[in-house]
Amino acid sequence: MTGNDDLTSDDGVRGTDAASGGGDQAGAKAPASVTKAPAPAAAAPVPAAPDGPLVELTDVSKFYGTIRALEGVSLQVHAGQISCVLGDNGAGKSTLIKIISGLHQHDGGSLRIAGAETTLASPREALDRGIATVYQDLAVVPLMPVWRNFFLGSEPTKGKGPFRRLDTSFMRATTHAQLRRMGIDLRDVDQPIGTLSGGERQCVAIARAVYFGARVLVLDEPTAALGVKQSGVVLKYVAAARDAGLGVVLITHNPHHAYLVGDRFVLLKRGTMAGSHTRDEITLDELTRQMAGGSELDDLRHELERAPAPAGLGAGSRSAGRDAGPKKA
Ligand SMILES: Nc1ncnc2c1ncn2[C@@H]1O[C@H](COP(=O)(O)OP(=O)(O)OP(=O)(O)O)[C@@H](O)[C@H]1O
Ligand SMILES: [Mg+2]
Repeated sequence: MTGNDDLTSDDGVRGTDAASGGGDQAGAKAPASVTKAPAPAAAAPVPAAPDGPLVELTDVSKFYGTIRALEGVSLQVHAGQISCVLGDNGAGKSTLIKIISGLHQHDGGSLRIAGAETTLASPREALDRGIATVYQDLAVVPLMPVWRNFFLGSEPTKGKGPFRRLDTSFMRATTHAQLRRMGIDLRDVDQPIGTLSGGERQCVAIARAVYFGARVLVLDEPTAALGVKQSGVVLKYVAAARDAGLGVVLITHNPHHAYLVGDRFVLLKRGTMAGSHTRDEITLDELTRQMAGGSELDDLRHELERAPAPAGLGAGSRSAGRDAGPKKA
């Protein structure tokens, strides 16, 4: 992976949607003739924090009216590491990332970015501070080419005054180069993004966040809708983002996916912490067991254990009958 040089930059992430951002860094890489998109009112981006966590949640709680979505949840995101958040449906995973990505604000506890306590007022502020979130629906325009989606909301232009126009050749070439750099070999960046597989689209979104200078990448269930092979490909790029020095938050239901790449694991259960481990503290088996509810899984196994079939109704007797076929006299 060769992206480290870019990511040590203090550029914030820019963009129009929460899928990821764009802007400053595009300008930085653009030839002199390229005018960069106007930068939004800048908040301080997440600075390089070699020691402490890039993002740290401590004892965070969140209530929706009287519904407790989160209580006492803590999570650390370190540069060059993948922090996995695991939990069943309704456990509070999305609520947790909405707090990190500025969509919702926490009610209790603290959110620190590069050591400074803060509350993110909006997804824009999170992006400006280097926190890019890739949502499951990815917020792409399916009929637009890959390169158009890559620069969506941060399109570089060239020329001045009435001659100002989109710098399409720069966008095409950059998209191609950046995808190649992440090891993504697309046949054609001109194809509509809607024609890519779900896994490829996830990979483009990850490459985009890396290119635009995200320091923290939050991925909400990037492998949820994917088959085994595509999941593997996406996890490869998640690891590539980590190797580029980003701090990654990976939300998943799947302990196998988490354990393949994760450095830290936080387990949520009905809004509370059911466990928090570094990789050397837990095995895949134990993680899977905790994820499945430990003793609840044992109870379920007992319940599902096959009771002996009543005589004459067992699968064995049925198939024996079928195999034998009707007996003709
Ligand atoms: N906007 C909201 N208003 C009210 N309750 C909400 C809201 N968002 C989430 N909740 C509730 O908070 C709890 C946690 O939801 P959340 O979406 O964070 O779970 P999750 O772990 O992401 O689940 P899933 O795996 O199904 O996506 C749930 O009980 C949910 O019903
Ligand atoms: Mg969710």
